[in-house]
Amino acid sequence: MARLSVVDTKRDAAAEERLKERLAAEENRGLLRFLTCGSVDDGKSTLIGRLLYDSAQIYDDQLKSAERDSKRPGGNGALDLALLVDGLQAEREQKITIDVAYRYFSTPRRKFIVADTPGHVQYTRNMATGASNCDFAVLLVDARSGVLTQTRRHACIVSLLGIRKLALAVNKMDLVDFSQARFDAIAEDFRSFAEPLGFEAITCIPVSALKGDNVIVPSPHMHWYRGPTLLGHLETVDVSREEKEEPFRFPVQWVNRPHLDFRGYAGTIASGKVRPGDEVMIQPSGKRVHVARIVTADGDLEVARRGDAVTLTFAEEVDASRGDIVCGIEEAPAIADQIAAHIVWFDEEPMLPGRSYALKCGCQTTTATISSLKYKLNVDNLEHVAGKTLELNEVGSCNLSTGKALVFDPYAENSETGSFILIDRFTHGTVAAGMIEFGLRRATNIQWQALSIDKQARSRLKGQQPCVLWFTGLSGSGKSTIANMLEKRLHALGRHTYVLDGDNIRHGLNKDLGFTDADRVENIRRVAETAKLFVEAGLIVMVSFISPFRSERRMARELLQEGEFVEVYVDTPLEICEARDPKGLYRKARAGLISHFTGIDSDYEVPEAAELTLDTSKTTPDALAEALLAELRRRHVI
Ligand code: ADX
Repeated sequence: MARLSVVDTKRDAAAEERLKERLAAEENRGLLRFLTCGSVDDGKSTLIGRLLYDSAQIYDDQLKSAERDSKRPGGNGALDLALLVDGLQAEREQKITIDVAYRYFSTPRRKFIVADTPGHVQYTRNMATGASNCDFAVLLVDARSGVLTQTRRHACIVSLLGIRKLALAVNKMDLVDFSQARFDAIAEDFRSFAEPLGFEAITCIPVSALKGDNVIVPSPHMHWYRGPTLLGHLETVDVSREEKEEPFRFPVQWVNRPHLDFRGYAGTIASGKVRPGDEVMIQPSGKRVHVARIVTADGDLEVARRGDAVTLTFAEEVDASRGDIVCGIEEAPAIADQIAAHIVWFDEEPMLPGRSYALKCGCQTTTATISSLKYKLNVDNLEHVAGKTLELNEVGSCNLSTGKALVFDPYAENSETGSFILIDRFTHGTVAAGMIEFGLRRATNIQWQALSIDKQARSRLKGQQPCVLWFTGLSGSGKSTIANMLEKRLHALGRHTYVLDGDNIRHGLNKDLGFTDADRVENIRRVAETAKLFVEAGLIVMVSFISPFRSERRMARELLQEGEFVEVYVDTPLEICEARDPKGLYRKARAGLISHFTGIDSDYEVPEAAELTLDTSKTTPDALAEALLAELRRRHVI
């Protein structure tokens, strides 16, 4: 603040502005956000404990509780540094770090925020979360085991998340007799692996977190090493980005309308800055308005910049809503409903192309399917490998298609408006993180062709209300039999119908598909799209597919309008289907001649809210078809 006094702020607002900017930049240079990552047991928590302990930043109570725990029966009485860091009870018990723990510490030269991210194999999710707002990474390896797959995977994710500099801390040097040859070999191995990842700088440092060698003070045991200590490097590494004018991005979080004569748009500035009077554009509508006020709890601002949480009001009437992005008029963000992106998959359940996930990109939420997996990354050699799905912790490059157009920037230009997460729509768990590469041009080149004769016109001509009766159930449950009987009745009544049957469609349109989960998802996606076209044509469509997954049945439902989709669960127990075994397939499956057979070694997810459930063990197919006909009448379909 002392420096501010050299300027007469009343007279020279522009100078004050410049000075504030300089101070903000210096403040930023003064703070280093970094993460530690690496394989489990490489000693991350001990390392951070050492940094905190030796730089005397440990809070007394944390220290006491760690001392207490170290003295527990079975402990060796020595202070366990990792206990200072592993704040969560579960971590203490399992001795693994299960969530991102942020620690603050400082030295006279710099302030630090360290994200301690878990190295346990399932926890790539937390690692990606931790890395997303860091500028620097410390990647640990155990000097005894050297560079492992997990080390390489973390290096890939760190690079994908846009971190340009990292330190490779070769830990536990005391356990390899402080061997220079061992250190050099590991450093060389890592450098040659990481070369294609394009880091600006990789600094390799031999340390012993436990003993303190080269963490804060130079090690007396490694005179051959002439580089900085880890803390020395952290204190001096320059992570400042090229100073350039960032485009203004303000994702609208909510519309603030406390009374009729005030309408403000609240959010946090993702990048750039804004002043009252600026002309801005609201995307995706493209409307242009002028900023009237920048309102905060502490009064109006003359300027607001990245990271400021503010409410903007506009001089003109405009209708913007949550998820819209207010931006400068010069460099508008892209808009597309098809994008190419890198994805890190977090979930135990593999990614299935064609499945509908929820997508959250800043304040925007929509649905998204992975339309194609272009390749997945072999993290050991960075080769691109072909694949149909992504498993837990895998990284891939995909094309996605979203339910509504996204407003975004490529991740390389803006990590806030260029990243997203995917969420499972049933479990609500976060299943992936994505970094947008670019919008697909085809998304802008294909437009909807409006046709004069529409669904209403066609259904009027046929005198019926088009709809889909979606029969789902095990193989041999009776879906096709009942659908067939119903169609005969409808036909006799002069109705226009069609049956889409799994076995038949798999001979033509879907003959390239088998029975893996991924293929079944695609099978149902295509048949749902076909059913939708037939509904557009004015038909009553009966779909008879096992359709074992809730997600895809829901996707089919969502393609159609309210009331057009009737889910019919043909509820025949597995024992009965197996006893019937009309095609002899259950016998083959039991004998191991067919794999992924539904009900045997592939799941069937029972419908939770089917409109109709048919019990074939008590009623004949004929009677069930009759009952369905009555139901169609009740629903005014016919
Ligand atoms: S779905 O699961 O993708 O919806 P679909 O209804 O198209 O399946 O096809 C199921 C039919 O394929 C069954 O009725 C059966 O005749 C035949 N089939 C062959 N192999 C399998 C298998 N592994 N699992 C289930 N059905 C199979």
